[in-house]
Amino acid sequence: ASSVVETDVLIVGSGPAGASAALFLSTLGVDNMVITKYRWTANTPRAHITNQRAMEIFRDMGVEDQVLADATPHHLVGDTVFCTSIAGEEIGRIHTWGTHPAREADYQLASPCLVVDIPQTYLEPILVKNATVRGTQTRFSTEYVAHVQDADGVNVLARDRLTGAEYTIRAKYLIGADGARSKVAADIGLPYEGAMDIAGSMNITFKADIEAYVGHRPSVLYWVIQPGANVGGIGAGLVRMVRPWDEWLIVWGYDINDEPPVVDEASATQIVRDLLGMPDIDVEITGTSLWGNNEMYAKHLQKGRVFCAGDAIHRHPPSNGLGSNTSIQDSYNLAWKLALVLRGQADRSLLDTYSTERAPVAERIVRRANRSSREFVQFFEVLGLLDATTEDEMVAAIEERKANTPGGAAKRAALVDAMELKNYEFNAHGVDLGQHYQSAAIVSDGSSLPEPSRDPDLYYEMSTVPGSHVPHAWVGDTMHRKAMMDLAPYDRFTLVTGIAGEEWTSVADKVAHEFGIPLATVVIGAGQEVTDLYYDWAKLREVDESGVVLVRPDKHIAWRSMTMPEDPEDALRSAMRQILGKA
Ligand code: FDA
Repeated sequence: ASSVVETDVLIVGSGPAGASAALFLSTLGVDNMVITKYRWTANTPRAHITNQRAMEIFRDMGVEDQVLADATPHHLVGDTVFCTSIAGEEIGRIHTWGTHPAREADYQLASPCLVVDIPQTYLEPILVKNATVRGTQTRFSTEYVAHVQDADGVNVLARDRLTGAEYTIRAKYLIGADGARSKVAADIGLPYEGAMDIAGSMNITFKADIEAYVGHRPSVLYWVIQPGANVGGIGAGLVRMVRPWDEWLIVWGYDINDEPPVVDEASATQIVRDLLGMPDIDVEITGTSLWGNNEMYAKHLQKGRVFCAGDAIHRHPPSNGLGSNTSIQDSYNLAWKLALVLRGQADRSLLDTYSTERAPVAERIVRRANRSSREFVQFFEVLGLLDATTEDEMVAAIEERKANTPGGAAKRAALVDAMELKNYEFNAHGVDLGQHYQSAAIVSDGSSLPEPSRDPDLYYEMSTVPGSHVPHAWVGDTMHRKAMMDLAPYDRFTLVTGIAGEEWTSVADKVAHEFGIPLATVVIGAGQEVTDLYYDWAKLREVDESGVVLVRPDKHIAWRSMTMPEDPEDALRSAMRQILGKA
C-alpha cells in the first residue's frame, strides 16, 4: 500500500535558500519538510562572505551566536591583497567588506551586525540543525523528481536514493531551492534572461599553515596575478581563506570551451605552490572541483503554488559575495507571507508580491556580480598584460610599474584608479543593503526615495519611505541596548511611534483584533520601555513624533503616516487591508 506524506510547505534543497526557508517556517510554527539530494549538506566551502543583512536575519532567528562561533570575525576579513604570489610582491591592497576606517562607520551606522566570513560547509549545518530542532522534517538522500499542482495543493514525486523507492508528498506549497540547475524552476517554466556557463572555474582546497605570510594582512581573499598556465595566458588566481590561516581554497579559471581540465594531486600541488610562491611548501590537497560561472536571472519567480528561491532564480559569479546572502534573503521575504496565508490571515494574493519584490533584486545582483567580475580586466589592462604575448613579456609588464620612466609613472597612476574601481566589488554597501520594494504589500504614501547623495551601489542611505528597510539605530533602556530591528521580530507586524503617537497602541490593538493578525506597537521615547538612547531614531524616522512606521516581519516598511491622522484607525485599517490583500 502506498501512502502519501503530507506537509504544508515542501522545500527542495538544503542549501542557503532551502535550509533558511525551513528555519524561518519552523520558527513561525509552519509545518514544513525539506528533501535534499545528497546524504548531507554542501561538501565544499563555496559561498562564504556573509553580509550585514544575512547576519541580521540570523540575529532575528536567534542563531547569530552560533554563526559567529564558526565564522572568521570581521576584523580578519578585509585586508585584501593583489600580488604576484603570496610570498611575492604586492601590487596593492584594498580594505574590503567595510573594513576601511572611513567605511567602517557607514557599515556600523547601518546595522547592528558586521560582515563576517563563514563557508557554506559551516553555515548550512547550523541552518539545518536549527530548522530541524524547531520542527522541520528533514530528509537527506531524497530527490525531487516531478510535481503536479491542482487548486488546493501540489503533489511531489520524491525518490529515496538509498532504496530507489518513489513516493508522493502532498504539500500546500512547494519551494524550489534546488540551486543553479533547478529542476523545479524548469518544471514550472520560469522565464530567464542571460546565459549559463560563460566561464569555467576550478576549485582546489588544501591545507597549509601560511600565517607568517598573511597574519599581518588578514583577509579572506588574496588575488594572485601571475603569468602562467591559466586561461588566455593571463594567470589570475584567487587564494581564499577557509580557516585562518591553515585551510585554503584556490579558484583558478579555465576555458569553458575546452575539455574540462583534469587536475590530479601533482598538478594541484603545483598550482598551489605557484600561487603561494613557495616552491617547496608541503601542502595537503583535500579536494578539487569544477563549476561554471553564470549570468542569468529569472524574470518571474513563481507559478501558482510553486516558488523558486536562491540560485534557482539568480546565477552569477562569486564577485561581491552575493549568492548565499541573496538566497537567504529570498526565503526571508517568502516565509512570513506563506505563514500568513496558511493561517488564513492574508489573502493568497500576498504571495504574488514575492516575485514583484524579489525579481528586481535578482536582476540587480546578477548584473552587479558579473560587472565586477568583468572589471577585473582593468587590472590586466593597466598592467599591460593584455598586449603581452609571452610569459617574459608579462613579467616585464608587471615589473614596469616600478620603473622611474614615463611608462612606469603612467602605470602607477592607472593602478590607483584600477584599485579604486574594486570598491564596486568589495565595498558595495548600497548593493548589499539598499533593497527597496514596490508591490501591493507596500502602501505608498506618494513619496519616493530621496535622490541618492552618493553612488547608490557603494553607499547605502537609510529612509522610511515605504518599501525601505527599517533604518538602524540603537535604542533601549538603562540596562539593554537594542537595534531597531530587534523591536520588530519576524513573527509579527510592528508599529513604531513616539510619545505623541501613543494613541496608535490602542488603535493597533483594535485593528490587530479585527484582522486576527499579530501586530504590536512600540512607543519610543523618554520614560517608555524603549528610549531613543542616542536620539538617533528621532533623526532617522522622517515622520513626526505622532506619526508611525509599520514594519513588516522582514523589516521592510509597509506603510507610514507622517503625523497622527484625523482617523488613525481608518488609516491603519485601510493600509493593513491592502498589505494583506483584503482590499
Ligand atoms: P545550493 O546550490 O546551495 O543548494 C541547492 C540544494 O538543492 C542542495 O542542497 C542540493 O543538494 C539540492 N538539490 C538540487 N537538486 C535537487 C533535487 N532534484 N532533489 C533534491 N534536492 C536537490 N558562491 C560564492 O559566493 N563563492 C564561492 O566561492 C562559490 N563557490 C561555489 C562553488 C560551487 C562548486 C558551487 C556549486 C557554488 C559556488 N558558489 C559560490 C555559489 C553559492 O554556493 C550559491 O550562490 C549558493 O549556494 C546558493 O544557494 P542555494 O540554496 O540557492 O543553492
